[in-house]
Amino acid sequence: MRLLHTAAELRQWRQGWERPADPLQFVPTMGGLHQGHQSLVALADRARAARGGQVLLSVFVNPLQFGPAEDFDRYPRDLEADAELAAAAGADALFAPSAAEIYPGGPAELTRIQPPDSLVAGLCGRSRPGHFAGVATVVARLLALVRPDVLWLGEKDWQQLVVLRRLVADLGLPLQVCSGPTLRQADGLPLSSRNRYLSPDQQPKALALPRSLAAAAQQVQAGTNAIEGGPSMASLTKAVRSTLLQAGLVVDYVEAVEPRSLRPAETLQTSPLLLAAAAFCGTTRLIDHVFLMRRPPIVAIDGPAGAGKSTVTKAFAARLGLIYLDTGAMYRAVTWLVASAGVDPAEASAVADLLVDLDLQLSTSAEGAQRVSINGQDVTEAIRSPEVTGQVSVVAAHGCVREALTRQQQAMGARGGLVAEGRDIGTAVFPDAELKVFLTATVAERARRRALDLAQRGFAVPELAELAAQIAERDHLDSSRAVAPLIQAADAVELITDGLSIAAVIDQLELLFRERVPADAWPGPAQA
Ligand code: PAF
Repeated sequence: MRLLHTAAELRQWRQGWERPADPLQFVPTMGGLHQGHQSLVALADRARAARGGQVLLSVFVNPLQFGPAEDFDRYPRDLEADAELAAAAGADALFAPSAAEIYPGGPAELTRIQPPDSLVAGLCGRSRPGHFAGVATVVARLLALVRPDVLWLGEKDWQQLVVLRRLVADLGLPLQVCSGPTLRQADGLPLSSRNRYLSPDQQPKALALPRSLAAAAQQVQAGTNAIEGGPSMASLTKAVRSTLLQAGLVVDYVEAVEPRSLRPAETLQTSPLLLAAAAFCGTTRLIDHVFLMRRPPIVAIDGPAGAGKSTVTKAFAARLGLIYLDTGAMYRAVTWLVASAGVDPAEASAVADLLVDLDLQLSTSAEGAQRVSINGQDVTEAIRSPEVTGQVSVVAAHGCVREALTRQQQAMGARGGLVAEGRDIGTAVFPDAELKVFLTATVAERARRRALDLAQRGFAVPELAELAAQIAERDHLDSSRAVAPLIQAADAVELITDGLSIAAVIDQLELLFRERVPADAWPGPAQA
């Protein structure tokens, strides 16, 4: 592993790569490395293995983010030990600049970055004035020197993560922010460089922090708190506070906030919520948090035909350990039933008769393939026939069909933990989904993809202009029909996939998901 101290060395190092344009994964730290930092490096290293490039970790104890009475002087500094741990975790280089390298004009002459009040007025920002401005300033400076493609941050410092994501968004910096979960000791204490300040008799007291928060999360999950009104939230925070006091800790704050805006949460209505606490154990300030979730997360992916929803939704569900709910297949299955019963697809009352005692099942085979059966018959292949494709819009437009299938989809989603794909998932089926995405592509791009697909499947390929006209017509029908029209939910994120590979779209979805549902709240499948 290379050890770099100056901006010039950093530049030389990158110029020396075999492919200097490959992505640089960057993990900024203040040293005092532990397994939490190492796990971030390991995540960065995994991304590097997939996309090429290198992993850089920085160590800089930033004076700007310490208050006058804080632990700047005694903060752990052991570059040799840090270098060993960074190398063992997979870092290619360690950047350990001097203060003069980071702040050449000295702190007095420095342009500083002030995060918005809404993000720093509460939680740690309240008792550590200037801390997040110090963090934002040093990270902006590090990013300017390092010029990474991906910035890796721990969810442990959740407020810092939110502040830095905003910094990157507001300044329009051309990089991705990825996060890694909080790592804990076997007894539950989150790993922190400051844990080494704790004496052996303080360690057990410190456990009150993770335990009281975990108890609150369990209460919410078990539904033992009424989800209406303020008192239940107040009772949760009160219980955490009193457990901390009983353990002999001095409480700085116990606060519940909406995780992205950091706005105070008065009720348990939205999910997930961040319940965070900071407390002093002797002179050591400890922080911890938990995400309050009433059920596992739901992701709604809507969008027009041909935007590539099925392919990416299926892969995204597998990556996050969520169940894939292909609502399009359900409408196709009903359409197949209509056709095989010889019923006129436009005849609403005849179609409605077929919905009585309908037994429609989606299942996933051992190989991960989705199977569809209707009234006991496996129709997985049959529902992809041109006949079904030609009639599905008509059948799916009947109110009775929408109602029956929406009801069934909602029953499937009652326990959460799924990604559903369709036309009205975010608007009609799961309006309380944690993430809503409107996945789309321009008509020209969808026509191009359709032509490719037809050619690959050995069908005659019409002129692109003709395909584009068909797609535009289908969009018009889908978005103007009276029942369940295709519209983007007000709170959905539009993702235009023109020019993006399938892998890039899935990466984008994961970033959007992780901003809303961190790994601390939903870890996803265990990584091999
Ligand atoms: O989390 C940290 O270690 C620091 O706050 C950071 C992001 C490296 C900035 O100094």
